[in-house]
Amino acid sequence: MTARQLIARPTRHTLRQAARLLRQGRLVAFPTETVYGLGANAAADRAVAAIYAAKRRPRRNPLIVHVATLAAARRLAWFDSRAERLARMFWPGPLTLVLKRRAGARLSRHISPGLHSVALRIPADPIALALICRSRCAVAAPSANPSGRVSPTRAQHVRQSLGGRVSLIIDGGPCPVGLESTVIDLTGKRARLLRPGGVPLEALHYAIGQVAVDESEDEARPASPGRLLSHYAPARPVRTNAERPHAGEAYLGFGPTAKGAILNLSPRADLGEAAANLFAMLRALDRPEFTAIAVAPIPRHGLGRAINDRLKRAAAPRRS
Ligand code: TXA
Ligand code: MG
Repeated sequence: MTARQLIARPTRHTLRQAARLLRQGRLVAFPTETVYGLGANAAADRAVAAIYAAKRRPRRNPLIVHVATLAAARRLAWFDSRAERLARMFWPGPLTLVLKRRAGARLSRHISPGLHSVALRIPADPIALALICRSRCAVAAPSANPSGRVSPTRAQHVRQSLGGRVSLIIDGGPCPVGLESTVIDLTGKRARLLRPGGVPLEALHYAIGQVAVDESEDEARPASPGRLLSHYAPARPVRTNAERPHAGEAYLGFGPTAKGAILNLSPRADLGEAAANLFAMLRALDRPEFTAIAVAPIPRHGLGRAINDRLKRAAAPRRS
């Protein structure tokens, strides 16, 4: 298959084709408002297994299931009052709810192996929603990158790293949020933040009160099975909180006074703009002529929490 056929603009025809591929158990990459997802029919064992193989993802790292309606979500998991409230406030949108899975839920056993929970999200991107509706199945979709590497925010990123392993990539242009969804665990009495993301923690507090945040990073026992410390890693090493670059480094700036910056996440110091640019700029600076990528300090409030989380993991010691 040529590169041109592998990537398709979203038209009625290509969405129908993508939906058919999903029903047949094939992998389809598609845009969401956060990052591109590597989608498969969430009810089909072989299809879900193919996601793990394509990403070389550890088998114990559970997947997010994407649905188009609250009714479809309720068929898969139990919604308590906190879940109802969060769903009403933030869906469709960049929030993933980890809930108790219903016994009869039509989901592959590979979705959340060894757990009684399932992670659910209704994405806001109209292309994603159209695809899910047309496929008439729940769609399992991790970010469409090899495990541990930088997430894709453009169709080209998916082709570069997973091109040979997907049947089709729907090109919806750049992802507007640019960071993955916030993941919150509601299976226990206390709501727990598993991953900061596109919905800021402040907004969750506002919606449901206290949310426990595990600030201590325990490599051996991550809060979420997939939350290993090294992740989102470019090939080059990353240095965070850099006030200025060292010789040989590529400097990724933030704000109006970023001297020596080759690229700037947001010259006007806007965290939303910085989030949208983060992964694409890390990729752009990941070039052999640089010894490392140095990144300016980023404020820690709002979306800054998720940006700093990704940068910390991009800078963490690598596993391989
Ligand atoms: O924005 C997003 O969430 C994107 C788009 C494609 O929707 N997807 C995404 O998926 O980021 P992934 O697989 O890269 O990250 C899913 C995260 C992992 O950290 C995983 O461990 C956690 O969600 N997760 C999934 N199911 C879980 C469960 N049942 N319990 C705890 N954590 C879970
Ligand atoms: Mg991911």
